[in-house]
Amino acid sequence: MALQTNLETLVTVFGGSGFLGRHVVRALAKRGYRIRVAVRRPDLAGHLQPLGRVGQIHAVQANLRYAASVDAAMRDADVAINLVGILYERGRQRFDSVMTYGAEAVALAAAAYGARVIHVSALGADPESPSHYARAKATAEKAVLAAVPSAVLLRPSILFGPEDDFFNRFAAMARMLPVLPLVGGGHTRFQPVFVGDVATAIADVVDGKGKTGTTYELGGPEVRTFKELMEFVLATIERRRLLVPLPFGLASFKAQFLQFLPKPPLTPDQVELLRRDNVVSEEALREGRSLAAFGIEPTAMETIVPSYLWRFRKTGQFRGRIA
Ligand SMILES: NC(=O)c1ccc[n+]([C@@H]2O[C@H](COP(=O)([O-])OP(=O)(O)OC[C@H]3O[C@@H](n4cnc5c(N)ncnc54)[C@H](OP(=O)(O)O)[C@@H]3O)[C@@H](O)[C@H]2O)c1
Repeated sequence: MALQTNLETLVTVFGGSGFLGRHVVRALAKRGYRIRVAVRRPDLAGHLQPLGRVGQIHAVQANLRYAASVDAAMRDADVAINLVGILYERGRQRFDSVMTYGAEAVALAAAAYGARVIHVSALGADPESPSHYARAKATAEKAVLAAVPSAVLLRPSILFGPEDDFFNRFAAMARMLPVLPLVGGGHTRFQPVFVGDVATAIADVVDGKGKTGTTYELGGPEVRTFKELMEFVLATIERRRLLVPLPFGLASFKAQFLQFLPKPPLTPDQVELLRRDNVVSEEALREGRSLAAFGIEPTAMETIVPSYLWRFRKTGQFRGRIA
């Protein structure tokens, strides 16, 4: 009898070149899976190659806005993982086209090939949300489950890790600006979760762990307000900055202009998103739909974030020499 190994399982990872993507690809490569990374620019996905053995990771071209490319990327695959998401709209990259119809295209292609589906959504996904991003995430979840009722959905809170867009962004702002704004007073609550823990959960689902047709909510060990997170950033990078409350209305007004920057630091839609807490629900905890379901003890941000934010300190990694 032939020995079954994970190498016989082909996993297509959409969005595999992104922040969460590289951690997912690394986790799957370690477990011996064959990985097809579906990205818009395979020529820019070279950083993934060293994460696996020769020939284990293969990049192909796919754009979620073009169903035929999604279908080609799913051919003969056993599992589809969709990590594609955008934070703001640009040109033809719209929340609906990329996150809703794109997610549906992945699920339909997976259904056609009889592949399992793992879909990454976000905490706050809600069809009634004032944020377009959150509504698109909710519509995507519904479309994915309609196409593949056995899909496993994962909703993380903010992700942290060396390449994150949250702690790095605010540390960079603190390096340049004398003040940091606290949108809505900075009272919004978050539950930052380590990107490595989310990648492990995803790899566990590929292994067959977790319940099909279930939505998991993934958060870290602690709930912190936005203001507390900014204080943590400042303490970590050893800088003093004024934290200035910015009412939602004023933040939205400023964001009307900021949204046109090439990489906007804030958009009106993100201000809407900040009006609601971003934490794992009591219901999910009660029903065992959290990281605990995978036996994962969430990593504290204090143990990881300083290891990459030191570069924003005045002294970098160097300290004054004590005589
Ligand atoms: N980061 C967080 O804090 C966080 C929190 C909650 C939920 N999430 C969700 O987790 C997922 C991964 O997030 P991330 O932080 O890893 O995002 P990311 O770094 O921005 O990666 C997103 C990926 O999507 C790809 N992509 C964008 N538009 C595409 C399209 N039209 N067709 C195909 N691929 C496309 C990007 O590739 P290109 O190079 O082609 O643009 C990239 O590989 C997303 O669904 C996000 O909404 C993230």
